[in-house]
Amino acid sequence: MQADCPAYVYGAPSPALVTVAAGAIQLSPLTPGSMALEDLPPGAAAEMAIAAPAGAVERRYVLALALRALRPGAQLQALAPKDRGGQRLRRELEALGCVVTEEGRKHQRICATQRPETLTDLEACLAEGAPRLVPALGLWSQPGIFSWDRLDPGSELLTSNLPALAGRGADLGCGNGLLSRAVLASAAVTHLDLIDLDRRALQAARRNVVDARAGFHWIDARQAADLSGMDFVVSNPPFHETGVEDKAVGQAFIRAGHAMLRPGGALWIVANRHLPYEAVLTELFKRARLVVETARYKVYEAVR
Ligand SMILES: C[S@@+](CC[C@H](N)C(=O)[O-])C[C@H]1O[C@@H](n2cnc3c(N)ncnc32)[C@H](O)[C@@H]1O
Repeated sequence: MQADCPAYVYGAPSPALVTVAAGAIQLSPLTPGSMALEDLPPGAAAEMAIAAPAGAVERRYVLALALRALRPGAQLQALAPKDRGGQRLRRELEALGCVVTEEGRKHQRICATQRPETLTDLEACLAEGAPRLVPALGLWSQPGIFSWDRLDPGSELLTSNLPALAGRGADLGCGNGLLSRAVLASAAVTHLDLIDLDRRALQAARRNVVDARAGFHWIDARQAADLSGMDFVVSNPPFHETGVEDKAVGQAFIRAGHAMLRPGGALWIVANRHLPYEAVLTELFKRARLVVETARYKVYEAVR
């Protein structure tokens, strides 16, 4: 590896399956503070290892960006679980002009290639994965962001049941800013902190929420200890961690929301009906009430 031509890693590929160079620079949009793959100058990178995302459009975009960033002859390793895009990795790299070796281990497909002199289909992959205005939503979005091109029914249920909020608040896991826009429709809101782990979501939210009362934070909501004394918190919490359902993430969001609120402040959340949030709500809050329930979702208000 040359000092002026560094190695990179995207996400957390298993070190048991691929070799990640010591000191490799992180590029994942889900790692706050990391560099953006989009910003790497073409042909400058010496090597890269990628834990490829599950979404097909997002994955082709990442592979195309990686190949654009690598110098000809540089090594690219990419892997994905068989049932989360791994079966298609080889063909996707070949479509970009690569000669690929592939092996399967531990339910993953692991592909290795050298960046060819000439890439094919690059611009199409970059265009299909790029940020864009989604006319059906009237919002900026990008493949890879939560519910990127359609209105999530849970978010819709929460927005349609929110009262006119007032004072200072936060949107935990703000995504492209859909809920925040509904919150800021109330003139009594003085400030809203939009928080998300996904850099792409926050970039979209910055375009969708053009409001002097909004602040944007690329951080893990579970580690937002600096934010406190809020009058309200809204959230459609995630319930997956690295692609696997994990109810503890939503419960941790509820704890983080509780920690941010002043006594008497209110948490408004929506959840899929099967998720067990009631115990943590009643344990932490002075009172919690089910506001509305549908066949798939439930909305709670909990007052600290
Ligand atoms: C269910 S989506 C809701 C998005 C948006 N609020 C909406 O209603 O359309 C959950 C959001 O939480 C974000 N997220 C996941 N884990 C997070 C974490 N640890 N800290 C902050 N945001 C997180 C995801 O990137 C995603 O945008």
